[in-house]
Amino acid sequence: MALSVIILAAGKSTRFKSATPKVLHTMAGRPMLQYTLDLASALSTAQPVVVVGPETEESIREWLGTRAQLVRQEERLGTGHAALQTRGALEGKADQVLVLYGDMPLLREATLQKLIQCHNDTHAAITVLTVQREDPRGFGRIVRGPDNTVQAIVEDIEASPEIAAINDLNTGIYIFDADFLWAHLPLLQPSPRKGEYYLTDLIAMAAQEKQPVEGLLVEDAIEGMGVNTRVDFALAIRALHQRINEHWMLEGVTLIDPATTYIDAGVTIGRDTVIYPNTHVQGDTHIGEASQIGPNTILQDCTIGNRCRVTASVLEYAVMEDESNIGPFGHLRKGARLCQGAHMGNFGEMKNSTLGPGAKMGHFSYLGDAQVGAGSNIGAGTITCNYDGKRKHPTTIEENVFIGSDTMLVAPVHIGSGSKTGAGSVVTRDIPPNSLAYGVPARVHTQAASETKDLEEEKDSGHKQ
Ligand code: UD1
Ligand code: MG
Repeated sequence: MALSVIILAAGKSTRFKSATPKVLHTMAGRPMLQYTLDLASALSTAQPVVVVGPETEESIREWLGTRAQLVRQEERLGTGHAALQTRGALEGKADQVLVLYGDMPLLREATLQKLIQCHNDTHAAITVLTVQREDPRGFGRIVRGPDNTVQAIVEDIEASPEIAAINDLNTGIYIFDADFLWAHLPLLQPSPRKGEYYLTDLIAMAAQEKQPVEGLLVEDAIEGMGVNTRVDFALAIRALHQRINEHWMLEGVTLIDPATTYIDAGVTIGRDTVIYPNTHVQGDTHIGEASQIGPNTILQDCTIGNRCRVTASVLEYAVMEDESNIGPFGHLRKGARLCQGAHMGNFGEMKNSTLGPGAKMGHFSYLGDAQVGAGSNIGAGTITCNYDGKRKHPTTIEENVFIGSDTMLVAPVHIGSGSKTGAGSVVTRDIPPNSLAYGVPARVHTQAASETKDLEEEKDSGHKQ
């Protein structure tokens, strides 16, 4: 059966107190509205319709692109009025209509599947998702008849003391028979206390016409939580992280302290990887098997291979191949790549650079726009001087090069394979293969690096790991 999905998101969100639309605030790596959109696309192939207010229309449209159709609710006259705005877009398109909220990110797909199943089994005109909570304030109360059928939903503000005592509550999520919805929405009347058109008044209309209304209780009450304030927002983020953490633990990932492990929704992690406390795995990050990440680490949009080690480091848009390691206190920036078995020690930074297979950069170094070949060693304090104040220039270091401590490589510059630089060199010109260069500015002193064994006996700590 064809299903239309309406996502209500036109509320003013005054309690959230933000210049950014509430539903675009990020939770575990995704804007809040994304969670509802994902539900909609899991349940229906039709494009969902999102109802927005005039203040937020532009920014929500920009973010959404073509993923949903937008309908504007000019005046905020209530949830019934909001749903009515979608009639032009949706009437005649499907035989069932699901109503979701843009600010209920903890709702699960399985719960909605059950709601749809219940609706289909009972042939109801309306099936309401209900919830039980210790504190019912703010929620509509589900009023049932003697035979337990749903007779009405009474809003908190309109409720008598007896009705206010009911603990069977409306989540605000419903599935409607489409014909019933489109025929009755225009008949709603403003509510006595608030003057709003309540979507919930459709329940009493159906009951009066002896059309069946069903209620389905959501088992995990947190699913029905709407995000109104920043306090709700923090609680919802914690719940999302908990779910994500449980998922990965059940997939064979060890989290030493789930309470301080923050994994975004799009991340993937291989078996036997261990994540240590206070680690943030964000965005489009993918970690292989048997790697060790953290403690005190941030990975954003990174690809990490198998058997890697990342200790107390910050990595953004970087790649680590199998068996490479970094830290403590390393920083990989955009375009950094540690090839297989490469090692980057403490207080290093790399940007748009590759440390080749088995290459090592142990201490206090910066590589920018540099390519380092396999097996090379970058001594302590080495810097690629890649920026002349106007433009960035490349540095190439071929295989099995030994860069002495505190070498300045003034780019563009090319160091041939098997060459060495002495400690403190300032390299301004290319060095041919198998040469020794040192001094300020560095000069090539010998052609064959093998003839310069004496250099290794100098008090140069750059080759130490
Ligand atoms: C609504 C329900 C209440 C339910 C509660 C659950 C009604 C009348 N009441 O109450 O029974 O227990 O949700 O959270 O439906 N919105 C619009 N346009 C509007 C008003 C609201 O798009 O004019 C959207 C909001 O952005 C939000 C949703 O509808 O996503 C619910 O609005 P909200 O003001 O939170 O409704 P409640 O009064 O809490
Ligand atoms: Mg609300």
